[in-house]
Amino acid sequence: MFHLGIETSCDECSIAILKDLQILSLETFSQIALHAPFGGIVPEISSRNHLETFLPTLHAALSRAGVSWAQLEAISVTQRPGLLGSLLVGVMAAKTLSYIHGTPLVPVHHLEGHLCSIFIQEPATPLEATPIQYPLLILLVSGGHTQLRLVKSPPEMWEEDILEQSLLGESLDDAAGEAFDKTAKMLGFEYPGGKWIDLKSVGGRSDAFAFPRALKNDRSFNFSFSGLKTAVSLEIKKQQASGALSEGRIADFCASIQEAIVDALCIKVTRAIDQFQPECLALVGGVAANSRLRSRMQALGIPLVVPAPTLCTDNAAMIAAAGFFRFKQGRALSRAQALTLTARAT
Ligand code: KG4
Ligand code: ZN
Repeated sequence: MFHLGIETSCDECSIAILKDLQILSLETFSQIALHAPFGGIVPEISSRNHLETFLPTLHAALSRAGVSWAQLEAISVTQRPGLLGSLLVGVMAAKTLSYIHGTPLVPVHHLEGHLCSIFIQEPATPLEATPIQYPLLILLVSGGHTQLRLVKSPPEMWEEDILEQSLLGESLDDAAGEAFDKTAKMLGFEYPGGKWIDLKSVGGRSDAFAFPRALKNDRSFNFSFSGLKTAVSLEIKKQQASGALSEGRIADFCASIQEAIVDALCIKVTRAIDQFQPECLALVGGVAANSRLRSRMQALGIPLVVPAPTLCTDNAAMIAAAGFFRFKQGRALSRAQALTLTARAT
């Protein structure tokens, strides 16, 4: 089955064409360079840019895949959550395309998309890729979310409320990616700073500064990262009072920040492994690119699944994959329902 996915919930305009779970084309226009001067995402800029890039991205995806509208059996689109103006562009375009071509429309929750990123088959997927087994523990770490989930069955069997069913815990305040980005900004790195903290940590001492691991002894599976910002800001001021920060000191800062975030995640993942005995652990979302997080998770002693970096960050292939499972379950919208579909920020 050929089908199309659309993702415009934040700062990526992404369109993918899949044959079942295999990617035929994935075109993603990232707006990072447009938002970087502002140190974060400007919603107005994001939605306006989606308007400009949507059609060229769609045409590129269709021509790369070599698939015609007559061959496409479904259109999946991120309906929620995200920036309303940005979501609207994708949802309105999907509705229009669905109406004009008579192609069934499948609304997808962005987080269900991230969970489905592990089921996508890429040409580059190694043959020895870890088989996914259940129960499956999933750590979803992005710029907007930090959640620990336990999934007991394959996506073909997921029910409408899978996101409620599977949630073990989540961040009570900032997401892990936000913690990386905000502390990186304090150190003068460009947005999004997560990857800079990762790179600049090399050679730094992760125990140089004692940053907090909030909710460490709390029995829940929740996280909290807002206190880290304050601790880092105070420490930077203290250090700067005795002169400019040397490269070596910056490496120590980065390694200590990274360790504090990764450690807080590992504490809860380890506890969930002890309690629920999952067969497999998956790491999804943009922060899954973090080298220290990957190596700490690898060392936990259970099979680890991490999608390719292009599938960890926001992309339309994961939305198409989630829509594919829903479509197979007969959950595409009727023509009348499709016409009244609205984007939702939450
Ligand atoms: O999933 P994603 O692309 O977008 C959201 O849905 O939020 O995640 C983006 C986040 C940003 O906070 C970015 O700094 C973080 O992922 N990130 C990293 C690394 N690469 C990206 N954080 C830590 N280390 C990295 N190597
Ligand atoms: Zn995302």
